[in-house]
Amino acid sequence: MGEITDVYKVLFRKALRVSENAYSPYSGIAVGAALMTVHGKIFTGVNVENSSYGAGICAERTACVKAVSEGETEFKAIAVASPEGKMSPCGICRQFLYEFSPDMDVITGEDADHLECVRLSGLLPDGFRLEK
Ligand code: THU
Repeated sequence: MGEITDVYKVLFRKALRVSENAYSPYSGIAVGAALMTVHGKIFTGVNVENSSYGAGICAERTACVKAVSEGETEFKAIAVASPEGKMSPCGICRQFLYEFSPDMDVITGEDADHLECVRLSGLLPDGFRLEK
């Protein structure tokens, strides 16, 4: 497991704080993400559900599309948090993030004092990427 630095604790707290903005009236599960670029910039995101259930988007992808939209495509780490407890990125989010930075750190945990840090490539072994 990777080292939990103070920066990663801050990142997790930002993720937990932004989870208050989650739009999740159907599942009732609020999730927040805080994505840090290699330049140290942080983009947050929440899950946004929809009456057409399949149209919902996870917190991780919300943060990622916000970052890419602002011209940032290289990531150092993402923290994922929920008041419900530890939240590990779903398969779609793993693949979505893998496109940009397979070696980024993924920080999850019950709370800021019980964090885990793993490589995205460890969560998605032999992940798929097309030649650019
Ligand atoms: N969800 C996330 O936003 N991130 C995760 O890592 C796991 C699941 C959301 C999707 C859906 O809105 C709700 O949590 C329940 O699955």
